[in-house]
Amino acid sequence: MYINPFLFILPRPPEQVVWNYKNHTQHELDLDYCHRLARLIHNPDLFDPNNIIDTQLLDAGILTVSKIDSPNWGWDELSKIYHIGTQNIPCESTPQNIHEWSRQYLAHCSEVLAKPEPSTDRKPQSVEALITLPAPGAMNDDSLTQALLRRKTCRSYTGAAVTLDEVGTLLYFTLGYLPARKNAHDDPVAPGLEARRSSPSGGGLNACEGFLLAQNVVGLEPGIYAYHPAEHALSQVNSLPEPALGQLLGGQHFINNLPLGVFITARFDRLWWKYEHSRAYRMAFIEAGHLSQTFQLVATTLGLNTWLTGAFADGQVENLLGLEGSAEQPLFFIGCGKSDGQAMCQEMRDLLCGVSS
Ligand SMILES: Cc1cc2nc3c(=O)[nH]c(=O)nc-3n(C[C@H](O)[C@H](O)[C@H](O)COP(=O)(O)O)c2cc1C
Repeated sequence: MYINPFLFILPRPPEQVVWNYKNHTQHELDLDYCHRLARLIHNPDLFDPNNIIDTQLLDAGILTVSKIDSPNWGWDELSKIYHIGTQNIPCESTPQNIHEWSRQYLAHCSEVLAKPEPSTDRKPQSVEALITLPAPGAMNDDSLTQALLRRKTCRSYTGAAVTLDEVGTLLYFTLGYLPARKNAHDDPVAPGLEARRSSPSGGGLNACEGFLLAQNVVGLEPGIYAYHPAEHALSQVNSLPEPALGQLLGGQHFINNLPLGVFITARFDRLWWKYEHSRAYRMAFIEAGHLSQTFQLVATTLGLNTWLTGAFADGQVENLLGLEGSAEQPLFFIGCGKSDGQAMCQEMRDLLCGVSS
């Protein structure tokens, strides 16, 4: 008999909670069960099929008949629990189509807004205490000003194709290694860490990578492609997923016809190679956020609208990108395409009109 490796035990007096952070289940144990579990952790061979506690611990998956391997993880248990514990969150009612999504989303917003808004501990400021800042002036680069003003999350796309030139521009300025920046430091850089992108990178490691999901790009077979930033090139890793894209991305079917998107992944092994403390885990997400914003500004400058999400079942996306069981993990998705510029899809707008009329 084996002890499930994905457990942590939390004191919640007078009980102890055994938490299976992979399956998202919790079990409250009283003293008898705790004693018995402690003995079995010490020696799983003590398992007795005639002991009711033992069989219940087995049925609960706290004990397992076969050994379960735990993935290689370079940081501490805390970050591992957090990472695995927030993966593949069970979702009983993933919307199956755009109408279901619209209804569920609106119901969820109404439920949230019915609760009182969280209050802030900040003391209210009197108007006199506020130092009014100068209005924003013109920036030297008007295209940046325009991109900042025009960027918005759109949930209604025409499905029109984008060109390979646009894809090249998007990927190069978001994820490509820019030779012009390589030696642009004032200070020398440690050999091996010279590659630089348009966005900053934690420790200069460029631990984040990108996978292109191409649904409608002129001159590119639909599929999933790994982007190689040093070569500014793609290699195909998979075909498109069978179900509609929205099914993969939290049931958000309004983006089913998005022509392209990029999954941002993080190579945790690169981060724990340089940074032993799991605080570096946070940096992966921050870096992904920088890349996401850059992607959105580039797409906006190209006249495309953008959409983004972290709502997906990690396991499904890992399979799609060919990353199962590796230290490279999907973090985020950003997409773009031609849009009517609406924040909400037509189905949601219809519902909203019904609600307000
Ligand atoms: C981390 C993050 C996750 C998001 N996830 C979703 C999402 O799953 N679905 C969605 O439609 N929008 C998502 N958004 C977009 C926000 O809803 C949007 O940014 C917000 O409503 C403000 O609108 P704006 O982007 O047009 O300024 C996400 C934004 C961020 C920063």
